Amino acid sequence: MTVSAGTDAIAHALENQFGLADRVVDAAALANSAARFKERGITLPTFAQLADPSSFDAAVVGDADKNGPDARNLWRVHWYNDMAGNRVGVPDHVVLPSSLTGVESPIIVVFGDRFPMITAHKVLAAYACLAPRIVTGQFDPTRHRAIWPSTGNYARGGIAISRIMASRGVAILPAGMSQERFDWLDKWCENPKDDVIRTVGTESNVKEIYDACNELAKDPGNFVLNQFCEFGNHLGHYEVTGRALGHAFEAARAASGRDLRLAAFTSATGSAGTIAAGDRLKQEYGTRIVAVEALECPTMLENGFGEHNIQGIGDKHIPLIHNVMNTDVVVAVSDQATDQLYAMFNSDDGLGYLADRRHVPRQILDTLQHFGLSSICNVLAAISTAKVLGLGADDAIVTVATDGAALYPSEYTKITARDFGNGFTNLDAAQVWGEHLANVPTATRSSSPSESGTASSTSATTHGSNSRALPSSCSRPAGTSRSGMACAACCPCGTT
Ligand SMILES: Cc1ncc(COP(=O)(O)O)c(C=O)c1O
Repeated sequence: MTVSAGTDAIAHALENQFGLADRVVDAAALANSAARFKERGITLPTFAQLADPSSFDAAVVGDADKNGPDARNLWRVHWYNDMAGNRVGVPDHVVLPSSLTGVESPIIVVFGDRFPMITAHKVLAAYACLAPRIVTGQFDPTRHRAIWPSTGNYARGGIAISRIMASRGVAILPAGMSQERFDWLDKWCENPKDDVIRTVGTESNVKEIYDACNELAKDPGNFVLNQFCEFGNHLGHYEVTGRALGHAFEAARAASGRDLRLAAFTSATGSAGTIAAGDRLKQEYGTRIVAVEALECPTMLENGFGEHNIQGIGDKHIPLIHNVMNTDVVVAVSDQATDQLYAMFNSDDGLGYLADRRHVPRQILDTLQHFGLSSICNVLAAISTAKVLGLGADDAIVTVATDGAALYPSEYTKITARDFGNGFTNLDAAQVWGEHLANVPTATRSSSPSESGTASSTSATTHGSNSRALPSSCSRPAGTSRSGMACAACCPCGTT
């Protein structure tokens, strides 16, 4: 399509690139969707309904298997499920105590593995990107193949929704993602050989995913749902996740009997959809928004990039939908910390050590199986945040556990083979505790509003045994990279 004037160009971008059409773009496609949905008994919940599931009858899901391809599961695409798919009154969460975190601030973690079909909250992002495209008639399930670029969970969510609509979906993800993601895709895709595209690399190789998308986009039958620039992703999390996290906080405050304030929200960013919940929390509670990235891929902190294993985050670029001007703090967490704590949280000796030597209550330890790699990252970032901002016992921090440990047993095998001689002993637990929980580093760099040009002050903090303080002696201008090389390799100061 040729675009003539500036306003046309903006309208074109809003509708096509960002998923923000405010009109029915193609009535025939919308009619096709309506017919398909009628035929298959599919109804679509609104964002407002998913934000507040008490607004509709829980019985709408009937006897739908929570983890099966049943259209009624669309009514479970919210934070108010238990593991079995039953409706709960408050989003399932745990409040981590100082015996585990070492800080006085309560850290409230809301569990994403209760979401249907993929046991990760990214099915919400997939739905939030697709639903606006359907109701505006831009996506036609009878004609289009939905292309779901991601590092795994969003693609799985997309494939689940495509399958429900009897529409073809294609998952594009790096070949190095956890085996469990591929096992799931093999089961859910009707034709995994053609519909699961493995691009080169691991978590941070998103450029290669984009390249594959660009190729596929040449075919008008393919519809790329690019979560990194679909504003449905931002808006869905703002509405649905924002409200759920606020609700979990209110419940934790009531249970604590203290006058807690919601001081901060930590979110390790992949597409930067989830972090949009922070925009809402900031409006309602004045909460500070903490963006988290892998220390090995410090894009926000240092314009650097590199390989890491915190699957789902840190994709070497700032997604278009990331409201960076509303971000208050950036924390980097080492994948060595998340890998090794994952091993600790999922081994008998690790849990035994936490119970016996650190006196972490059993009911807390029982929840650690619901923490995937990025969930641990979010918690470590919350600890760093509490320390850096000097938060106390009345300052709660909220975060999400996007997925649970069940998505990473193959990583457990790799991590224990690499770092612990194939087993995880009590001795290993003591070492991991000492390195990654007992002594959370808080190296900080702050920039005043005048320096940063933003309204909020920005702190940069690093975390993990590989953490590096950002050196004041580095002569590289802030926000520039030395070269296109991986971090730690290109700057003489050793940072990027
Ligand atoms: C496990 C995991 N954690 C965190 C994220 C990051 O969430 P977001 O893309 O909303 O920033 C993702 C995204 O795919 C993920 O799969």
